[in-house]
Amino acid sequence: MSEIVLSRPTDNTALIQFNRPGKKNALTVEMYMNLCDALDAAEDDDSVRVHVLLGTEDCFTAGNDLTDFLDNPPQDDGSPVLRFLKTVSTLRKPLVAGVTGPAVGIGTTLLLHCDIVVAGEHAYFQMPFTRLGLCPEAGSSLLLPLSAGPRLAAELLLYGNAFDAEKAARAGLVNEIVPDAEVHEIAMSRAADIALLPPGSVQLTKKLLRSSFASRTHEVIETEGRHFIERLGSAEAKEALTAFVEKRAPDFSRF
Ligand code: COA
Repeated sequence: MSEIVLSRPTDNTALIQFNRPGKKNALTVEMYMNLCDALDAAEDDDSVRVHVLLGTEDCFTAGNDLTDFLDNPPQDDGSPVLRFLKTVSTLRKPLVAGVTGPAVGIGTTLLLHCDIVVAGEHAYFQMPFTRLGLCPEAGSSLLLPLSAGPRLAAELLLYGNAFDAEKAARAGLVNEIVPDAEVHEIAMSRAADIALLPPGSVQLTKKLLRSSFASRTHEVIETEGRHFIERLGSAEAKEALTAFVEKRAPDFSRF
């Protein structure tokens, strides 16, 4: 079975599901490319009115595959992860996400580009960039202070600790918290509600909601991307990523 599963549960809904449960749905270069192709195709398909993004039953995604960061790191603006961020941040049609279990790294930051997010009561979120010697990505250094306020954004991005769905809702990352077992069904139902509405009006509303920070978002995604690529080559990141692969605690004492 593919690591990205595509389906059309209704005529108007394009459903994308991460499907790499053995690796907590960690995203590889190939998965980013498949995600972009699927989103582009659904954007171009006039019958699709809403995109839905789900993980597997108990995991949204553990973020970028950390082994890939060591073996196959992004090189420039054209890399698959940056292509994915450009795609997801410029969708015309609404994007609904349903989060169960962990949503780590880009698993959390991509929620800033979703229009509606349904989370399970035991979902957890984390932007562990400083813990990995990296830096914010996906426009999060701009969008998180806007949605969470600068104080909470600093806490979440500087410590890089995991946080629960209640805190994610306070940070403006989540619309509603529901029982874990109902996340996928409720996310689909929220998408169906949007798909009943006039699509021209829905798409214009989405565009206007984002218009005041859309161009700045793209500049920030690019700037963060350049820093992120540099950080991946740093000794700090190498220590953190190697420690993950070796299943040990990183040692930052020499930096
Ligand atoms: N990249 C590559 N492999 C990953 C991964 C990632 N981001 N996240 C999890 N995995 C792998 C683990 O190495 C493990 O593989 P193994 O069974 O071959 O040893 C498997 O997925 C299961 O993960 P595990 O850590 O045992 O699950 P858990 O339920 O105890 O913890 C997480 C789940 C998400 C909290 C934990 O896996 C984690 O912190 N992952 C890294 C998240 C991260 O830093 N992402 C990048 C942000 S930029």
